[in-house]
Amino acid sequence: KIPIWLDCDPGNDDVFAILLSTFNQNFNLIGISTVHGNAPLSMTTHNTLALLDILNVYHIKVYQGSETPLIKPSHFAPQIHGSNGIGGVKFPKDTINQLCYDVNYLQAMKQAILNYNHKLCLICTGPLTNVSKLFTTYPELTSKVNLISIMGGGLNIGNVTPYAEFNFFADPDAADNVLSLTGVKINLAPLNLTHKVIATKEIRNKIFNKSLTSKNSKFRKIFYNILNFFSESYKIKYGITEGPPIHDPVALFSILPFLDTENENEDYNYQYIRKKLRVITDGDHQGESIIDEDESSDTEDGIYIGQNINVNKFWNELL
Ligand code: BDR
Ligand code: CA
Repeated sequence: KIPIWLDCDPGNDDVFAILLSTFNQNFNLIGISTVHGNAPLSMTTHNTLALLDILNVYHIKVYQGSETPLIKPSHFAPQIHGSNGIGGVKFPKDTINQLCYDVNYLQAMKQAILNYNHKLCLICTGPLTNVSKLFTTYPELTSKVNLISIMGGGLNIGNVTPYAEFNFFADPDAADNVLSLTGVKINLAPLNLTHKVIATKEIRNKIFNKSLTSKNSKFRKIFYNILNFFSESYKIKYGITEGPPIHDPVALFSILPFLDTENENEDYNYQYIRKKLRVITDGDHQGESIIDEDESSDTEDGIYIGQNINVNKFWNELL
């Protein structure tokens, strides 16, 4: 099993990254850090704890991270995720799961990376504030983490502005810092990839039908409601009618082509380019990810920028 640390801002689609990392047989979720993003930090944190309650998972350590971006003012996404960050469900106010305070989130992330000795993968599905701070505070960790996989950015595509994807827009300085790290393998699930992973009506119905027959019906119904809310948001905001792209779990799933050594014959069909990327931090193009060099050839120390993946396999794992 691949040890995972998840840094997230739930978030309708972050929910599915939590689900996949918690139950899929490939992953061993070690801990979660929360970050501002789709909603204010208090809400993304509460959503994380409440969701783990619903899943009956009580052994995952959850740490609260950054409340604001490094430099820019906060930017949330109520139109896409609802004002509480997860539209379509109302979580109870009190949760059984509680935040951990034994150490702060940066120390907890550092400890997890060291404990798993080059094996831990850091999965980032929100603005990169926490992750930027982690490597600024402990630069030596770049050589100790196995892989950083990020949902963010897009080449010539945006969802906040025509240029910028939400996670990079919400903290462009952090995104630029993290993408500029050297000595660490970075995988990116940009919009160009995640827009190929659509929660179509057919997929949503599969979840619904299983919720009628399965012993896990209660939580399947919740996931169904979340996806339907997300779907409506995409219809209203972007005019996309086929269904919402389910961005965040793609950053998790796309580490398997690198690391699923037990099933070498598995066909992930992962296609990527390898480029150095920068993020524009200011002005009208804030949050835009741009290729840092000559576009014609891939570079060996470039970021793995996902372009395509076996979408059927993704849904099979998730469902
Ligand atoms: C990303 O932005 C957030 O709104 C989603 O949760 C996802 O992480 C997509 O651009
Ligand atoms: Ca997210």
